[in-house]
Amino acid sequence: MTTVGLIGSGNIGGTVARLAVDAGYDVVLSNSRGPETLTDLVEALGGHASAGTAQDAAQVGDLVVVSVPLKAYRAVPVEPLAGKVVIDTNNYYPQRDGAFPELDSGEITSSELLQRHLPQSRVVKVFNNIYFKGLAALSRPSGAADRSALAIAGDDADAKAEVTAFLDRIGYDAVDVGPLAEGWRYQPDTPAYGTLYSASPTDWEHPATGDAAKLRAALAAATR
Ligand SMILES: NC(=O)c1ccc[n+]([C@@H]2O[C@H](COP(=O)([O-])OP(=O)(O)OC[C@H]3O[C@@H](n4cnc5c(N)ncnc54)[C@H](OP(=O)(O)O)[C@@H]3O)[C@@H](O)[C@H]2O)c1
Repeated sequence: MTTVGLIGSGNIGGTVARLAVDAGYDVVLSNSRGPETLTDLVEALGGHASAGTAQDAAQVGDLVVVSVPLKAYRAVPVEPLAGKVVIDTNNYYPQRDGAFPELDSGEITSSELLQRHLPQSRVVKVFNNIYFKGLAALSRPSGAADRSALAIAGDDADAKAEVTAFLDRIGYDAVDVGPLAEGWRYQPDTPAYGTLYSASPTDWEHPATGDAAKLRAALAAATR
């Protein structure tokens, strides 16, 4: 697997793209306004980055990252993602996204919503609970004492193995939380959300290692 497609290239998508390029992947970026608006980011990322439409990114990506405001999830192209592993970074913020009754009731999780939209893809929830500046700063080589771990959830074991290998290459360990239905354990307002990777609960600007043990404890402490 060599090409990572990005649907959404903002704070988180752009940061994942940076880590992927640094790890030797090619990346194809996309956003809602069109590839011409991504020139600066492509230039900053260097020769292994290019931009296209969301359709292009979905088509050429061996692995595709969806990182858009959740309210835009229905715009994610379905057909070119069939059979692919799709990473879902999205979070539900009603004040930004509007109300989704099935999420408010806890009937399903936000990543199950994307999985329903992409029935032939294998969705894995990851990057949702780490602030983008922390994600950029905490990447470490395999085996480093201060390596951080990211939570993954998904319904397909092979897809999770693929994402675990991707995370390892871009500088993170993985902690498997279980199926997508368990993804609520690191959604907004849980102990694993955000401040797990910062030096202080009130200061997200200073990242701090969130290792597997710390992450597991936070996931176990979550209540719905
Ligand atoms: N910020 C964080 O630290 C963080 C951390 C973890 C998870 N998240 C979650 O990850 C998601 C992205 O967050 P972000 O902070 O990266 O947001 P952001 O900086 O606002 O970037 C959003 C990206 O999505 C694109 N987009 C919007 N609608 C689209 C569409 N219909 N098709 C293709 N691309 C579209 C935007 O393109 P345009 O600019 O052209 O509209 C932009 O590139 C959100 O769900 C957020 O809750 C964020």
